Amino acid sequence: MDEKDRTIKDFGEQWRKYSDNDGYYGSLELFSDILSPFLRPDEIRDCRVAEIGSGTGRIVNMLLEAGAKHVLAVEPSDAFEVLCRNIEQPEKVTCLKIMGEQLPAYGDLDYVFSIGVLHHIPDPAPVVEAVFKALRPGGNFLVWLYGKEGNGLYLAMVRPLRILTKHLPHFMLASLVEMIYWPLVFYIKLCHWLPLPLRKYMMSILERISPEKRRLIIYDQLNPSYAKYYAQSEARKLLLDGNFANVRIHHRHGYSWTVIGTKPNS
Ligand SMILES: C[S@@+](CC[C@H](N)C(=O)[O-])C[C@H]1O[C@@H](n2cnc3c(N)ncnc32)[C@H](O)[C@@H]1O
Repeated sequence: MDEKDRTIKDFGEQWRKYSDNDGYYGSLELFSDILSPFLRPDEIRDCRVAEIGSGTGRIVNMLLEAGAKHVLAVEPSDAFEVLCRNIEQPEKVTCLKIMGEQLPAYGDLDYVFSIGVLHHIPDPAPVVEAVFKALRPGGNFLVWLYGKEGNGLYLAMVRPLRILTKHLPHFMLASLVEMIYWPLVFYIKLCHWLPLPLRKYMMSILERISPEKRRLIIYDQLNPSYAKYYAQSEARKLLLDGNFANVRIHHRHGYSWTVIGTKPNS
């Protein structure tokens, strides 16, 4: 099995252990933060949209709450069952158990979203190409990616750790997550007093997330076989190489990239 298939398998297992999207983690408020400064949730109202890499349906339900007319939810892993079960307005959703690169060339989508997914695909170019074909002219592709900039110290710690953790069985990884959880809680408290790395993310996002979902976030960092942390130029290039125009990028909370591009009219 190659790295791409291993990563999909890892997520299939992960999402069957952590299957709900409760609280701030699954809220429209968090979605608004992810889209900012390029889009507001109300701009999605009555639109035909897709999400690539839907996992447990967290973003799909946010899109429905924002008023999307129809959502295509793409998820290739065994989490597909969890996705179908979690969808809140099933009559407005089509779930597709396919890879992002297999998205049909509908040519009429207003928006495609891919939140926290492309950095887990070793060669994301075919996915970007498929999204381009699925959008209508003037339609937009918004992606959120892990960033390299702002994560220096974090990556110095997590990269060596991942060499081991991506191979651990669930019960061992879950025990390790428990050992990391309490120092993380302490670190978040310290961020109130000291200008520590990732302070902005800790205080504006992680502090608002429930203990259970914080554990999931630690697990999600350590579990997948493949994870790339994008430099700003690489994140922009991903959409520029896919022929997107008006590509704009935002350094979200100083640790990640939100990138948006438009399919040109001609
Ligand atoms: C970190 S999860 C993000 C889930 C969801 N977007 C969210 O934010 O809650 C990444 C998801 O991408 C999926 N994925 C991995 N490779 C993919 C591919 N080639 N095409 C589509 N989805 C893929 C995984 O199975 C996983 O569910």
